[in-house]
Amino acid sequence: MTQRAARLTRPHRRFRASYINGVWEFIREKRAVSWHPEILRQRFDEYLRVLQQAETDPLAGLAPATRFWLISHSDRYLGDVDVRHHLNPALERFGGHIGYKIRPTERRKGYGKLICKLGIDEARKLGIGDILITCDDDNIGSCKIIEANGGQLKDKIDNDRAVLTRRYWIPARD
Ligand SMILES: CC(C)(COP(=O)(O)OP(=O)(O)OC[C@H]1O[C@@H](n2cnc3c(N)ncnc32)[C@H](O)[C@@H]1OP(=O)(O)O)[C@@H](O)C(=O)NCCC(=O)NCCS
Repeated sequence: MTQRAARLTRPHRRFRASYINGVWEFIREKRAVSWHPEILRQRFDEYLRVLQQAETDPLAGLAPATRFWLISHSDRYLGDVDVRHHLNPALERFGGHIGYKIRPTERRKGYGKLICKLGIDEARKLGIGDILITCDDDNIGSCKIIEANGGQLKDKIDNDRAVLTRRYWIPARD
């Protein structure tokens, strides 16, 4: 029930405190974050501007991408999803059109499946046909999420990482 009430939003100041708490959780699980919470505390508006810029005017070599946050019915930040507007050679091998994560304290509640579904909806709105999503071969949760959302395993490729990368395609709707 709480899961159904969660929705995607664009990053916004309104969720600042909850988002920063979520980033601390990612740090505690030793996940790399692009903006440290202490920096976010001081320069949150700048962070929002950088996200906006990534959509229309990305840094050299990056594809334009839109970031969304999954927010609970009680306005708690639950996770985020990036929708990349098109693929480049790097994303074709690793990353694909859609990348998501759920904050550690909110995992195993179905939010991973939900954020992937909502990310696919956003990709469709952008006119993306066949959607590529990649994940590590040993990331059981993410493999289940992609398959539950209609992903068809195309191949597993070697990206010079510890594990192979699975590439799934979600076919365009007719
Ligand atoms: C992968 C991730 C998004 C899963 O989020 P989640 O909210 O726990 O996912 P869900 O609750 O929707 O679970 C989906 C399925 O995967 C299973 N699952 C989730 N995490 C799992 C794990 N660590 N090990 C085994 N199964 C797992 C769930 O039990 C569920 O199975 P079911 O379909 O049989 O019911 C989350 O662990 C995460 O953010 N990880 C770090 C970032 C990441 O790996 N992103 C994906 C990059 S491709």
